[in-house]
Amino acid sequence: MPWTYLGAALLLLVIGLLGLNLLSALRRMREDAARRALDLARFQEELAILREKHRKVTLEPLPWNGFRKFVVSRKTAEGAAVCSFYLTPHDAKPLPAFKPGQYVTFRLPDTRPGGQIIRCYSLSDHPHQPHYRVTIKRAGAPAGAGTSLAGVCSGIFHDQIREGDILDLRAPLGNFTLEPADAEPVVLIGCGIGITPVFSMLATLMHQKSRRTIWFFHGVRSSREHLFKAELAAFARANPQVHLRTCYSQPGPDDRLGEDYQVAGRVTLELLQRELPSNNFRFYYCGPGAMMEELTGGLKQWGVPDTHLHFEAFGPLSVKRVSHVTAMPATPAATRPLVTFRKTGTAVPWDGTHETLLDLAEHLGIGIASGCRAGNCGTCVLAMQSGEVSYIQPPGSPPEARTCLTCIAQPKGDVVLDA
Ligand SMILES: Cc1cc2nc3c(=O)[nH]c(=O)nc-3n(C[C@H](O)[C@H](O)[C@H](O)COP(=O)(O)OP(=O)(O)OC[C@H]3O[C@@H](n4cnc5c(N)ncnc54)[C@H](O)[C@@H]3O)c2cc1C
Ligand code: FES
Repeated sequence: MPWTYLGAALLLLVIGLLGLNLLSALRRMREDAARRALDLARFQEELAILREKHRKVTLEPLPWNGFRKFVVSRKTAEGAAVCSFYLTPHDAKPLPAFKPGQYVTFRLPDTRPGGQIIRCYSLSDHPHQPHYRVTIKRAGAPAGAGTSLAGVCSGIFHDQIREGDILDLRAPLGNFTLEPADAEPVVLIGCGIGITPVFSMLATLMHQKSRRTIWFFHGVRSSREHLFKAELAAFARANPQVHLRTCYSQPGPDDRLGEDYQVAGRVTLELLQRELPSNNFRFYYCGPGAMMEELTGGLKQWGVPDTHLHFEAFGPLSVKRVSHVTAMPATPAATRPLVTFRKTGTAVPWDGTHETLLDLAEHLGIGIASGCRAGNCGTCVLAMQSGEVSYIQPPGSPPEARTCLTCIAQPKGDVVLDA
């Protein structure tokens, strides 16, 4: 008899264990299915973003190829160390429209023989004007360094470019654009000189008499850096759907809270969460790298989908110091792609120490001209004799076949470059 009880108990135990296993297997399957569904949703979202970017960079033809001559028709001071330049076509032919948020690329002669300086500047007005306008901040030297390290191109614009001068411009480009015909509410954020593309977006919506709800956050240190103050105030006064929040992080003694600015402090996620009625907006933002990283992470955590985050960095420093001029050993590690710079006869394994092929070339002391260092201006393009590259971010416009933009390129396998 006890054996019968024991047998029954064992049987129940086995059935119980099997049941538990079955339940936990079912739970795991449900969790796996949910995770897969989430991964798929994320993948589809990322695919949609990439498709959209690809569509923008491949389908839209440029209004002109190469460089076109423009006259500086007006130059105005906008505040501390910032000037606006108004540009009209030298050939007096019509001025092509652009999308608010796009930038133009300038080519200035360098003092070195045959040298040239290439830099990108966002268009800072709406596209229905008879001119293009760019607004340029003088890039000062790093703290403690001599003035010889001050920004080259912005210095030339401030000190040498005069009304009547003729400049070379590439056609407007860029994927950081607002679709003015959309009706979705938007949050526009511009910190420091990063206000230029988002001001263009706001000015476009105002010009089109858009009824779209717009929150505009402008982050600066004090009134000395407060760009487009009168225009912004006029837009907000005349349009109840425009909510303007100017944030001073270091207000001056004469700066008046409530009059000159609305918020003491920086533009942060906490500020957005405090001011906005919800997270249901499209966000467009431009400013210093640290602020953009902070906002992107914070907005994602707040539940804003990737598809609603649109941002642009003005690129890393255009000038980088060459840290070493001696080549790394030419022996390739067996499993690493081999990067060969044909003209200089240098071959090194790609070991992931450098972010891009341009960084690697500079590390080796191989001179490659660069401008934006963000895949926008095309200056760093190199012919590829063989191999393929991938890009760490989509190029502003796709380079020709068998060439690559080294400032955003990484080798996919062995690659031979014409440098
Ligand atoms: C898409 C896009 C849009 C842009 N829009 C705008 C805009 O609307 N307005 C605007 O003002 N800018 C804009 N920029 C930035 C602009 O293109 C330039 O990068 C900026 O003007 C600086 O260029 P520069 O030649 O004056 O400075 P660079 O000579 O390129 O130097 C950049 C910085 O590095 C420092 N530096 C130089 N040498 C050294 C060294 N050896 N060690 C350490 N530091 C050094 C300089 O002091 C300077 O601060 C935009 C950039 C991009 C990519
Ligand atoms: S430096 Fe401008 S595209 Fe590479």
